[in-house]
Amino acid sequence: MSRVSRLVLGTARWALAARPDRALLSATVAAALDAGIDRFDTARAYSPPGRPGEGERLLAEALGPHARAGRARVATKGGHWRRPDGSFAVDARPATLRSHVEASLRVLDTERLDRYFLHWPDPAVPLAESIGALADLRTAGLIAEVGVCNVGVAQLEAACAAGPVAAVQNRLAYLGVDDPVRERCAVLGLEYEAYSSLGGPDGPGRLEELTRREPRVAALAARLGATGAQLALAWLLAQGAEVVPVLGAGREGSVRASAAAATLTLVADDLALLDEVRPRPAPDTA
Ligand SMILES: NC(=O)c1ccc[n+]([C@@H]2O[C@H](COP(=O)([O-])OP(=O)(O)OC[C@H]3O[C@@H](n4cnc5c(N)ncnc54)[C@H](OP(=O)(O)O)[C@@H]3O)[C@@H](O)[C@H]2O)c1
Repeated sequence: MSRVSRLVLGTARWALAARPDRALLSATVAAALDAGIDRFDTARAYSPPGRPGEGERLLAEALGPHARAGRARVATKGGHWRRPDGSFAVDARPATLRSHVEASLRVLDTERLDRYFLHWPDPAVPLAESIGALADLRTAGLIAEVGVCNVGVAQLEAACAAGPVAAVQNRLAYLGVDDPVRERCAVLGLEYEAYSSLGGPDGPGRLEELTRREPRVAALAARLGATGAQLALAWLLAQGAEVVPVLGAGREGSVRASAAAATLTLVADDLALLDEVRPRPAPDTA
């Protein structure tokens, strides 16, 4: 798999907006496909208040004929949704997960979901029960691959014991967010999807500031013709073949910049420099 096709376009922000700009979403999705990014991420919870599945609907609309032509792989998530008051709820009981999967199949207009994540472990339901339910739906042919989000190492081990898990989606970023689950995924042969990997909406600005402040990083950026965000993305991809960044983007330019970043090669000295100046992870994320 090329490094560009290891990128996923995350669509949460479009879906959470009160009035998403559909034309801009279509243009961003088209730019992603054009740049070689053919993986997309959504969730039942990515919706305006009280309209579960709206984000999946928007993405399906933007993908349109590309999805029907099999040009796009879509991952979605369930067991989590947005209430009418705007708050988020978790319910990962087997019956709920089945109804969420069935709703996603309808909205995405497909017979099988490419990848389905348990969005959050439900403290009221044993993880083995939730994963067992998704494994049954996979056996029934409704899901191609099962994944888990927002898990620690022990939860990942429990999930893997309960069914065939293909991937994890957790938070990991150059800007001070580490995650021991990434190394565990490498050992277990699972994909590790890294979300908020540029540090969220204000991350790219902080990355540019860090690049300007540190002359050796500025020199590296100039040598490679890269921005701070692109260096952070190249650093992330260099952490291991299991890493698949999930990038939120509201503009075509961001998508194309990310695809270009995936073609950058950082040598050992470059990585050592970036590690040296990297903001230290907060103790609870290390
Ligand atoms: N599983 C979970 O619980 C979970 C939780 C959170 C997020 N996610 C997933 O992860 C996705 C991304 O997360 P995120 O939106 O928090 O954060 P992100 O990817 O860290 O950051 C998005 C920001 O980075 C900018 N950007 C993207 N590519 C860029 C580039 N190459 N150069 C410069 N700026 C760039 C975007 O700017 P523009 O808007 O200007 O393009 C946007 O402001 C979500 O859409 C969702 O799919 C999953």
